[in-house]
Amino acid sequence: MAINRHIQTLDEFTIQQMRDFPQATGELAGLLRDIGLASKRVHVEVNKAGLVDILGDAGTMNVQGEEVKKLDIFANNQFMGVLRHGISCAGIGSEEMDDIVVFNDEISNKSKYVCLFDPLDGSSNIDVNVSIGTIFSIYRRVSELGKPATQEDFLQPGNKQVAAGYVIYGSSTMLVYATHRGVNGFTLDQSIGEFTMSHPNIVCPESGKFYSVNHGNFFQYSDKVQRYITICQQKTKENGGPYTQRYIGSMVADVHRNLIKGGIFMYPGMKDKPNGKLRLLYECNPFAFIVERAGGKATDGQQRILDIQPTAVHQRTPFFIGSKLMMDELESTS
Ligand code: AHG
Repeated sequence: MAINRHIQTLDEFTIQQMRDFPQATGELAGLLRDIGLASKRVHVEVNKAGLVDILGDAGTMNVQGEEVKKLDIFANNQFMGVLRHGISCAGIGSEEMDDIVVFNDEISNKSKYVCLFDPLDGSSNIDVNVSIGTIFSIYRRVSELGKPATQEDFLQPGNKQVAAGYVIYGSSTMLVYATHRGVNGFTLDQSIGEFTMSHPNIVCPESGKFYSVNHGNFFQYSDKVQRYITICQQKTKENGGPYTQRYIGSMVADVHRNLIKGGIFMYPGMKDKPNGKLRLLYECNPFAFIVERAGGKATDGQQRILDIQPTAVHQRTPFFIGSKLMMDELESTS
């Protein structure tokens, strides 16, 4: 006889977590529900991307001067729409938009959170059916409640994040999010349209076998990074290896794999781009928060990512993230 095993949905989980805090207002649970809803809509479009005229370039550049794909715009609109019409968010910042958007209406001004998003990371992979993802980050406002959110609400260091997460649109669609209480993963059960708990209490293995870096840029990296990559290549069974190089070019997929299986991901600065490619607020801070909560580490090569005081919403940073012992080995490389 089939056993009807209990499944726990994302909403059930966040409400249960809230019950442990009598002072909780439910705003964070509401925000996560809204994010889950928008990502389900994106999931639907991503899954039919090959069938409809939504693939391909939208013919514009985003604020970083990169090509914007149609699905980027769709995803951006979904997250913006859901959060604007929800009751838990005072404003958003998105990798796809020049400036922050402060909702500035009676309900939003009372909301205590702001959100930052990369609505569709890895979008240059859409056309070739490779996993892509959404990354999000949630901060408690520092500005006065009842008034519109301000730029300062968005320019907080990553260690002030209340929650951060990502959605990976891969062989299955998964939402992983972290709070100070831990990291949990939910897989979308398409038959009921719900994210259901599949990866409770995610812990990043202390070490791993994967290193993820764009080898095509090898000679653009600093001597130290080149030496560390060479150490990875020279690993043998005797000293914890051999390592395997895995680089998809879609950070959500690369870091997700390393979070679950153990590994290190690097997007270093380069001779002509000393701050690398990745954005501190939209990509690095959320992942640094998630991976640290899971026991790993994240730095810019000099300091902890979460301690960087941002000065601009679109600033970039070199990024190194992963299993604790592999990060220690990178740091001790001279
Ligand atoms: P994009 O969204 O423009 O496709 O960028 C993806 C990001 C990140 O997810 C990935 O790890 C990195 O850029 C890949 O960049 P390179 O192709 O330069 O390695």
